[in-house]
Amino acid sequence: MTNPVLIVEDEKNLRRVLVAVLEAEGYPTIAAENAEEALDMIQTKHPALVLTDQRLPGLSGTELLRRIKETHPEIPVIISTAYGEIEQAVEAIKAGAEHYLTKPVDEGELIALIRQTLARHGESLPPLHRELRRYGLIGVSRVIETLLETIDLVAPAPSNVLITGESGTGKELVARALHQASPRAEQPFVAFNCGAIPLELVESEIFGYERGAFTGATRAQAGKLEMAASGTLFLDEVGDMPLPMQVKMLRALQEREFTRLGTHQPQRLAARIVAATHVDLAKAVSDGHFREDLYYRLNVIPLHIPPLRQRRADIAPLVHHFLRQICTVIGRDPMVTIAPDALAALEAYEWPGNIRQLENLLERMVVLNRHGHLQRSDLPAEIARHQSDNAFPTSSSPFDLPALERQTVLNALEKTRFNQSQAAVLLGISRKQLRTKMKNIGLLGDQDGEDDTIDT
Ligand SMILES: Nc1ncnc2c1ncn2[C@@H]1O[C@H](COP(=O)(O)OP(=O)(O)OP(=O)(O)O)[C@@H](O)[C@H]1O
Ligand SMILES: [Mg+2]
Repeated sequence: MTNPVLIVEDEKNLRRVLVAVLEAEGYPTIAAENAEEALDMIQTKHPALVLTDQRLPGLSGTELLRRIKETHPEIPVIISTAYGEIEQAVEAIKAGAEHYLTKPVDEGELIALIRQTLARHGESLPPLHRELRRYGLIGVSRVIETLLETIDLVAPAPSNVLITGESGTGKELVARALHQASPRAEQPFVAFNCGAIPLELVESEIFGYERGAFTGATRAQAGKLEMAASGTLFLDEVGDMPLPMQVKMLRALQEREFTRLGTHQPQRLAARIVAATHVDLAKAVSDGHFREDLYYRLNVIPLHIPPLRQRRADIAPLVHHFLRQICTVIGRDPMVTIAPDALAALEAYEWPGNIRQLENLLERMVVLNRHGHLQRSDLPAEIARHQSDNAFPTSSSPFDLPALERQTVLNALEKTRFNQSQAAVLLGISRKQLRTKMKNIGLLGDQDGEDDTIDT
């Protein structure tokens, strides 16, 4: 669906909420304050559907409807009326409205109605909303946004990808995202860890073997390359691949062919190769531990994931995400919350083990927690002692305005699952103002460029 939904509503906050709700569902949405403005937009933007309030300054919703029917009878119009204004609703239907809604508008009802109406008018369903295309990658930093954009860009190509990043930064998560976003998503995703396995095993695991290929090969076995079919083969810790295996892998990649051990029958290599490493492969090459030619083969598209300490803005959303996730998994209700100063300490810490370390720590803290609230004193001393000067200011005084503001902003973001537009509506400020506040309290880095795509 390319044509937008047009919302006509004079009440500013409601207008924003409606836009946010529809955009969250994946519908491109535009808004007008009154009927006159709406008529202009209908000429220029050709909306797929109009949702208008009945009571507007100037022309009423029903009058707007009549004008639309004169010039664009194909555009479905839904009118919303105040509770009890049933005659108005009847009049609207007579004038050709597709439907009417009574205020206050129920979100679920609204979305269902719009979906049905558009479907009836032959519009396809909206593209998957961005939220759904985040592949479980939580974060508000520019790093994460860029990563998501790159995934969308790179996923459709068959080119090999090399993901680099410290331990626990999310390399496997990104590899899976690449697979999910690719046309291979229906095919298998097969992961293989090349680390610390003897050469013979790596070889038989990746290429497979025929019965009798070696002592102990009592039956034939497909290798990972074969299992991946036209899906994705994820070669984890590729830097640990033994050198002789590197030679064989390179040949397979060059010839797009491989052979099970114990046979000469080649098979076509159809899988896409996504490799990952936490070591500096370029250095491994110069040290002679990794073949340069294989390095270039794998590194067609390099994807680097920076460590958590270089994107501290992601820590708060990750903490909230993990708290929610862990509490759900272990059936803890109400959800365990975290004190602002504890969060500040987490934000100031260096996280050598990155997101994995953060996740494991939170799990331990939640399981061991009795009072449902994580305090700074619950943190391991090593982390608790981290002062917030590294990250964001905090204080325990009830009159500390910046700290309160920070918590309020965080609450709004959490409630809206870090949807900035919706959080701004909750706070009654513009998205731009919200972003400024997020920057001030360190939830967005300075490098997080201003993107004012849907600033209302
Ligand atoms: N941006 C993120 N949002 C949510 N969860 C994340 C994110 N990044 C990583 N994780 C989670 O952190 C954990 C570690 O991620 P993953 O296993 O992908 O990292 P890795 O780089 O492969 O680590 P290692 O080097 O230790 O193998 C996983 O549970 C993963 O789901
Ligand atoms: Mg990994």
